[in-house]
Amino acid sequence: MTTDERNALNSAIASGDVQGRPPLTETEQIKAAVQEHYSKVADRGTEAGCCGPEATADDCCGTAANGLYDLDEIAAIPAEAAAASAGCGNPTAISDLKPGETVVDLGSGGGIDCFLASKMVGETGKVIGIDMTIKMVELARENARKLEAHNVEFKLAPIEAIPIPDGQVDAVISNCVLALVPDKPRVFAEAFRVLKPGGRIFISDMVTIGDLPPEVVQDAAQWVSCVGGAEDRDKYLQQIVDAGFEAPETISEVALSSGEGTTWAGSVYSLSLKAVKPA
Ligand SMILES: C[S@@+](CC[C@H](N)C(=O)[O-])C[C@H]1O[C@@H](n2cnc3c(N)ncnc32)[C@H](O)[C@@H]1O
Repeated sequence: MTTDERNALNSAIASGDVQGRPPLTETEQIKAAVQEHYSKVADRGTEAGCCGPEATADDCCGTAANGLYDLDEIAAIPAEAAAASAGCGNPTAISDLKPGETVVDLGSGGGIDCFLASKMVGETGKVIGIDMTIKMVELARENARKLEAHNVEFKLAPIEAIPIPDGQVDAVISNCVLALVPDKPRVFAEAFRVLKPGGRIFISDMVTIGDLPPEVVQDAAQWVSCVGGAEDRDKYLQQIVDAGFEAPETISEVALSSGEGTTWAGSVYSLSLKAVKPA
């Protein structure tokens, strides 16, 4: 990791937990908890997973081994990328990516969806993975090296400020990431900004039907499990429209077992959608 990357990350998350700096805001605390958790996921691969060691196979954020991906898709990527997979869907499987296109993956983790996208866009295309967790970016870069995936690069950055100029990208993908971000409208606005007119987003994410109780929303463990920050589905879809996209198309909506035995059981879903920036 270069000094510039570390400085960029530090200023982006404004980490106030250093002596003499102001206390962390709520948003910064969430981001710090997310980074800490996903550093461990990068270290431990499937041992942790998005929902922690207690997760069941059909719990919120499955791993590649939980049936989100075809076996031939998993076989074609480094084992470490599959092991660190922490998604809740399979965005490239619902996409229409074409050879030669430029694709950005928001919250790319160990790179699984970038590597699948890289095969779809081919040598004339390009895939850029963005993630704010240093260990995830290091793991993804190592996976790209093993795979000799020359059309994939990984950038260390917050997806609230995508380090790409306006209108350069054909498609944005993302897998179980926005649920970890307090300011979702800002990320949708950034996705809209980097897309060319007619560009598409393909997102799999955790949402709720109705609002979660405050004790869940305020629980850091629920946040890093992609549950505490999951937005109400209708509000989430409206945020995408508010960013300028045409009405999103829901491709699938699958109820998850999160919160079993609680008053909010049955209200957490994995949503996969497509939306288009007007041409
Ligand atoms: C649940 S994991 C999913 C990783 C990957 N998409 C996959 O399917 O395996 C979430 C990833 O998003 C990253 N992330 C969360 N919030 C982010 C933010 N605001 N900016 C950049 N990356 C973020 C985390 O570091 C983590 O690698």
